[in-house]
Amino acid sequence: MPPVIYAFISDVTHPLKLAQRMARLGTETAFEVLVKARALEAQGKSVIHLEIGEPDFDTPGNIVDSAVGALRQGWTHYGPSPGLPQLRQAIAGHVSRSRGIPVAPEEVVVVPGGKPVMFFAILALAEAGDEVIYPNPGFPIYESMINFAGAKAVALRLREEMDFRFDVQELASLITDRTRMIILNSPQNPTGGVMTKQDVDDIARIIGDRNIVVLSDEIYCRLMFEGEHHSIASVPGFKERTIILDGFSKTYAMTGWRLGYGVMRPDLAAQVSLLMTNSNSCTASFTQVAGVEALEGDQASVETMRLEFQRRRDMFVRGLNQIKGFSCRVPKGAFYAFPNIQKTGWTSKKLADALLEQAGVAALSGTAFGSYGEGYLRLSIANSYENLEQALKRIGSWAAKNL
Ligand SMILES: Cc1ncc(COP(=O)(O)O)c(C=O)c1O
Repeated sequence: MPPVIYAFISDVTHPLKLAQRMARLGTETAFEVLVKARALEAQGKSVIHLEIGEPDFDTPGNIVDSAVGALRQGWTHYGPSPGLPQLRQAIAGHVSRSRGIPVAPEEVVVVPGGKPVMFFAILALAEAGDEVIYPNPGFPIYESMINFAGAKAVALRLREEMDFRFDVQELASLITDRTRMIILNSPQNPTGGVMTKQDVDDIARIIGDRNIVVLSDEIYCRLMFEGEHHSIASVPGFKERTIILDGFSKTYAMTGWRLGYGVMRPDLAAQVSLLMTNSNSCTASFTQVAGVEALEGDQASVETMRLEFQRRRDMFVRGLNQIKGFSCRVPKGAFYAFPNIQKTGWTSKKLADALLEQAGVAALSGTAFGSYGEGYLRLSIANSYENLEQALKRIGSWAAKNL
C-alpha cells in the first residue's frame, strides 16, 4: 500500500496519497540541522554553523561579472538540454587536461549542480534486481537514490584505520553478478579520505572486464591538501564504464548557482539529456556562460580558497584532538573534519544534538552519512578561522563539564 499522509492543516479533509516510491527516498540531514539551528538563533542563541558543506567565500568576481554580462546580453532563454555548446566544449577541454583522457563535448552533460548527475545516472542505469555498491559513511543521496530507483544499496565500509579509504578486498567480496554500479567518491564527504593511485588501479583490476559502471564523484577533486587526484576514468579501458561527476559548487564557491556536469559515453549522455528534457529542460543559460569564465578565466581564487581551507584544517584538527573523548584523523581533501567520538560514551546523534542545544555548535551526526557513521561527527571547516577557534572553545568547555 502506498503511504498515506494526513497534512496537519485543519481544513484539509483529503489524505495525501503518495506513490509508494516516496517512502524509499532519504534526505540530507544538513538542511534539517540548519533549520533547527536557525530556530535557536531566532530565540536569541548564538550558533556557529559547522553543519553545511559549502564554501563560505563569495563567488570570484570575474565569474559574477560574466553572469551579469550574460544576463544583459540576453542569455535568459532556454538552451539545449545537454548544455550550451561552448560550455560543453570548455568542460571537455578541462576534463581532458585534468584526467589525461580524450573527452569530446558529446560526452558532457551540463546539469543544475553535481547532485542531478547522481539522480540521473542511477535512475538511468539501476532498477529492481540490480545492486549498487556505495561508500558508507558517504554522501547520503547515493543510498537514497539507489533505494528510490528500486535497486539494492550495498554498503562498502570506509575504515578510519585506513584514513577513511576502503579495503579493496572487501569491495571484491561485495561484487556479484547483479552489481550494476559502484560509486566512488574522492576526496570524500564526510571523511576527507582520498584514494591513492594504487587504490584506483586495484579497484580497476578487481572490476576487470565486468560490465559495471563506476559513478566517480570527483566534486572535491580540486580541494586536495596532499597528493594528487586520481580518477578511475584515466585507467585504460575504464573511460567507457565511468561517469565522472564534477561541478562548480565547491571549486568556485558557486553552490547557489546550481551548475554541475557529468562526463560519460555519448550514448549514455544522450539518455541523461533526455532525463534533463523531461525534468529541467536545461540548466540556466546565463550561469552556463559564467561557467565558461570559471573554467577558462583566472584560477587564482581556487588556490587561495584551498590554502585557506588547509590553514583552518590544520588548526581545527589539532584543536579537536585536544578535546576529551575526541580523536580526529587529518583529512587529505574536501573541507570536513570527521572526529571519532566513541570515547565520549555518547552516541553521535545525541552528541550532535547536545552540542547544538548546549554549546551552540551545529555539527552533523556521523549517522547522517550511513550506519557506519555511528561513533563520528562531521564538522565543516567552511567557516572563518575565528569561528572555528570559537567552536573549539565551546566544544572543549562543554566536554570538560559533561564528559
Ligand atoms: C560528495 C558530494 N557530491 C556531490 C555534491 C553535490 O554538489 P552540488 O551542490 O553541486 O549539487 C556534494 C554536495 O555537498 C557532495 O558533498
